[in-house]
Amino acid sequence: MTTYAETYQSWKTDPETFWMQAAEAIDWDEKPSQALFDRGGDLYEWFADGKVNTCWNAVDRHVENGRGAQVAIIHDSPITGTTRKITFAELRNRVATLAGALRARGVEKGDRVIIYMPMVPEALEAMLACGRIGAIHSVVFGGFAAHELAVRIDDAQPKAIIAASCGLEPGRVVHYKPLLDGAIEQAAHKPDFCVIFQREQEVAKLEEGRDVDWHAFQYGVEPADCLPVEGNHPSYILYTSGTTGQPKGVVRHTGGHLVALNWSMKNIYNVDPGDTFWAASDVGWVVGHSYICYAPLIHGNTTIVFEGKPVGTPDAGTFWRVISEHNVRSFFTAPTAFRAVKRDDPKGEFVGKYDLSALRAVYLAGERADPDTINWAANVLGKPIYDHWWQTETGWTIAGMPAGIEALPVKLGSPTVPMPGYDVQILDEAGHPMKPGELGAIAVRLPLPPGTLPTLWNAEDRFRKSYLDHFPGYYETGDAGMIDEDGYLYIMARTDDVINVAGHRLSTGAMEEVLANHPDVAECAVIGISDELKGQLPVGFVCLTTGVNRPHDEIVKECVAMVRDQIGPVAAFKLACVVDRLPKTRSGKILRATMVKIADGEEFRMPATIDDPAILDEIAAALKTIGYPRG
Ligand code: COA
Ligand code: AMP
Repeated sequence: MTTYAETYQSWKTDPETFWMQAAEAIDWDEKPSQALFDRGGDLYEWFADGKVNTCWNAVDRHVENGRGAQVAIIHDSPITGTTRKITFAELRNRVATLAGALRARGVEKGDRVIIYMPMVPEALEAMLACGRIGAIHSVVFGGFAAHELAVRIDDAQPKAIIAASCGLEPGRVVHYKPLLDGAIEQAAHKPDFCVIFQREQEVAKLEEGRDVDWHAFQYGVEPADCLPVEGNHPSYILYTSGTTGQPKGVVRHTGGHLVALNWSMKNIYNVDPGDTFWAASDVGWVVGHSYICYAPLIHGNTTIVFEGKPVGTPDAGTFWRVISEHNVRSFFTAPTAFRAVKRDDPKGEFVGKYDLSALRAVYLAGERADPDTINWAANVLGKPIYDHWWQTETGWTIAGMPAGIEALPVKLGSPTVPMPGYDVQILDEAGHPMKPGELGAIAVRLPLPPGTLPTLWNAEDRFRKSYLDHFPGYYETGDAGMIDEDGYLYIMARTDDVINVAGHRLSTGAMEEVLANHPDVAECAVIGISDELKGQLPVGFVCLTTGVNRPHDEIVKECVAMVRDQIGPVAAFKLACVVDRLPKTRSGKILRATMVKIADGEEFRMPATIDDPAILDEIAAALKTIGYPRG
């Protein structure tokens, strides 16, 4: 038996051998001559000179190896009341045909394809079809508004967009097609064509000459074979929130992605090929990319595409029903989902109605896992609950429980230990490593491991500025925390203006840009305040232009509508107040952290550089009008 410490040490001593061995689990058309390629200037790539195809590894090879009849994807939709299963053999045929149709319409290696779809298997098929022909997909989350989609269209410049006619939220049909049409109208770049997957819940009108129907488009086409691409060929771009309204296009290279995700399935999630694995997230997020689509399929697992919510579809027992019905072995969700279940079923009475004997462990990520939630879940389920920490940028776990290697003791409040490949350090402002127990910026010594971002799409300068410049020789995670004497990591807070709402990463800067466009708003600030269910909630403060004397509640309503309209419902921006002034330092920086403390009812030290302390009382009074601090 190897221990975690031995595994981590074996990576540290000889990373090249460690990753070349991990790469043996992947089918290469041409084996890479080495693992790491140092491109100079702190840029790195993995397995760059190998030739490989993602779709082959996720689909075709399992059919070749006798798994053709195994279910690859289970679509479980409590919203439509249906369950559908697709075997690996069926998946191969469906993906090969879709890929053939895309190719026939001129989509080639390196072309971008935007995918805007809800939780249906066709979303995964679209992703895999792109990989099959070397096209680079960019999936956009369905809860974003047309403007956010337009921004991504202009940045990725897709040749094609694949979308569904609608998405389904409890009690509401999300009209994807008008959002898509609006986005294309707003964007300067226009795709050559759009493929529309018509769902029976809402059939969309197709735009003559631009839109094609998903089925008709595939009729009679020649299926496409898998095209081997270089290990450093981008497999996808996934946009994530930064400090401004312009999202960052995280690039994922093909070779490292395959190797790292495959490694993670046994060593972290402790599943074997053939087991059912379920990540209850959305394909629009990185968790959905890595652990609904790619990793389980690459590793020969059955994956579940779940179209529902933790509660209300129909009740707080849905998770347990899905786990028992499909024999889920490892389950991945966000703490906020458990908080929602706990609120509806505090004693966990629904758990007793289902047979959860197949379930081995639960994995939580996406936001801080509070000890209360972990304790509650461990009590009602009687299974280990593992927190793990990672980001869109890394694509897989930075720190977690290496359950497939060794189940280490769980420490509440810690996502456990760094995975091989990650040399995690806590740094002070000057970039010096700090002692155990001391709080600082969390950084990872370069190079980052396979599967992580090599750069940002068409934005190498921004990549350097966002992640590399602050601490030379390190990747800056944007999180702050500490490491204890036993090497366990603790994640405490973000160091930037990114907030986390129900496990969704959002930029307060992006919301401020929207509010600033309101004709009556002279100045504004958005902060993330603590929320029992969603972790954080955004709250806006707006100062009005001199002379504006319209009713404040009208202006607030318009501000809320603008954020929903331009960023999307997922921003959950519902609270704002009008104030005369914003608290600032003498140099003009808005004191957002102090405002958060006031809203959360926490003690705070008066910032020495504040220009006028009386403004903080005005902020407290404004917060009181919207019910903060709570209790
Ligand atoms: N398409 C369109 N709209 C969406 C959407 C999607 N894919 N996902 C969410 N929305 C909308 C919701 O309908 C809601 O709209 P509303 O303001 O009209 O009610 C809004 O965005 C906010 O959604 P959400 O944050 O999901 O809140 P909720 O109140 O609907 O549900 C939870 C609360 C906790 C149950 C829910 O947030 C949840 O399941 N979270 C899990 C988070 C998760 O899996 N994160 C992935 C990272 S691992
Ligand atoms: P995303 O890129 O959307 O996955 O968001 C990544 C960010 O979410 C991280 O940088 C953290 O701020 C936060 N996060 C994710 N997982 C955890 C976790 N297990 N504990 C604390 N914060 C987390």
